[in-house]
Amino acid sequence: MKKVTEESVSWNESTSETNNSMVTEFIFLGLSDSQELQIFLFVLFFVFYGGIVFGNLLIVITVVSDFHLHSPMYFLLANLSFIDLSLSSVTAPKMITDFFSECKVISFKGCLVQIFFLHFFGGSELVILIAMAFDRYVAICKPLHYTTIMCGNTCVGIVAVAWGIGFLHSVSQLAFAVHLPFCGPNEVDSFYCDLPRVIELACTDTYRLDIMLIANSGVLTICSFVLLIISYTIILMTIQRCPSDSSSKALSTLTAHITVVLLFFGPCILIYAWPFPIKSLDKFLAVFYSVITPLLNPIIYTLRNKDMKTAIRRLRKWDVHPSVKS
Ligand SMILES: *[C@@H]1O[C@H](CO)[C@@H](O)[C@H](O)[C@H]1NC(C)=O
Repeated sequence: MKKVTEESVSWNESTSETNNSMVTEFIFLGLSDSQELQIFLFVLFFVFYGGIVFGNLLIVITVVSDFHLHSPMYFLLANLSFIDLSLSSVTAPKMITDFFSECKVISFKGCLVQIFFLHFFGGSELVILIAMAFDRYVAICKPLHYTTIMCGNTCVGIVAVAWGIGFLHSVSQLAFAVHLPFCGPNEVDSFYCDLPRVIELACTDTYRLDIMLIANSGVLTICSFVLLIISYTIILMTIQRCPSDSSSKALSTLTAHITVVLLFFGPCILIYAWPFPIKSLDKFLAVFYSVITPLLNPIIYTLRNKDMKTAIRRLRKWDVHPSVKS
């Protein structure tokens, strides 16, 4: 598939390295080459990233410090925010600082580190989203068993499983990429390293790797997505069957959850599981994934959630301790 051109051969000769991996760094083509647009994009994404750091940290601090929010749902939400912030920090700061550099370089190791953490946090986020759906399922469909099923241990267990699965998923993907030979072009048409873009550059037949990618990331995202859609459908049907006072509140929480699930899985499925990559859509999806979704999550949860808003108001007055009478 990859043509080993004369150009790349002479490039090989000019470097003193003789092992298989001749490429020692990758070059990002970035979002656009227009100079005026760079400044605009810099300001835009700087503000977005600021919002991501602020919004997600606010959620974590609010949930951890306010004992009113010490429940499985909010613990999971805080974990989701923490992961969102970390996920965005893998790509966004490098992208933002790169707007001003002529040559957007990343070392081969740096590239692998980016891929590792991208999939590590991505895989964990996926498990947390499923856990949040499970939490709502138990709360709404099995309310009498809620406190026994979702006890403190379950919650800690879920979080541990999330990090474990994220790690396994990431390592299992990276294991293939580490040994790929890169000898030819090293320009990544994106602003961060991810497997689909990097595998393209390997000078070997990547057909089996593409299959592996679809089998791992693709199947994982599609299965989780289907699972989530089914569980939210069951929950919504349960609410409809016996409407109660609390169902409008439950419905607003569910709408927030479902919105976040769609925002996370939409780009994910298009990137990893869609068999016909759409080049023009690719960078847009990447931007969406690395700066828009992590920014929207805190907005969706804080603006739509009364308890969260009250807690933030309390936090501003430093009125969060149980000793203060409420
Ligand atoms: C994540 O969840 C665990 C278990 O419920 C909780 O103890 C921890 O504080 C949460 N972490 C964050 C960053 O909110």
